[in-house]
Amino acid sequence: MAKIIAEGKTFDVDEGTNLREALLAQDIDLYNTGAKIFNCRGHGTCGTCLVQVEGSVSVPTAAETKRTIFHPQAIHKERRLACQTKVLGDLLVTKFDGYFGDGDEFIWTPGGLLAAQR
Ligand code: FES
Repeated sequence: MAKIIAEGKTFDVDEGTNLREALLAQDIDLYNTGAKIFNCRGHGTCGTCLVQVEGSVSVPTAAETKRTIFHPQAIHKERRLACQTKVLGDLLVTKFDGYFGDGDEFIWTPGGLLAAQR
């Protein structure tokens, strides 16, 4: 089992669980603004599920590597496409602003602080 802490929620998942599916199953707000509707549903092509991860995760898939070569994802090496990431151990997750989650201001942190509350 691995523990994920994101948006003020702490929960356990099996190692190897897809991070996007784990976050959505907990009703965590993975997508920003219009990306809530317009996203690729986990195929690794839109880039809008970008999150910062601290912990043990899988190496980038070929789809993630291809998608994150381009701006704006390319400038945030510590951020990953949740849909292409497998959880391999305990994990802290942070979501930033911007359409893709590529901004500099956080939307939510592992502890759950929301941008609107700052
Ligand atoms: S949901 Fe589109 S790249 Fe992850």
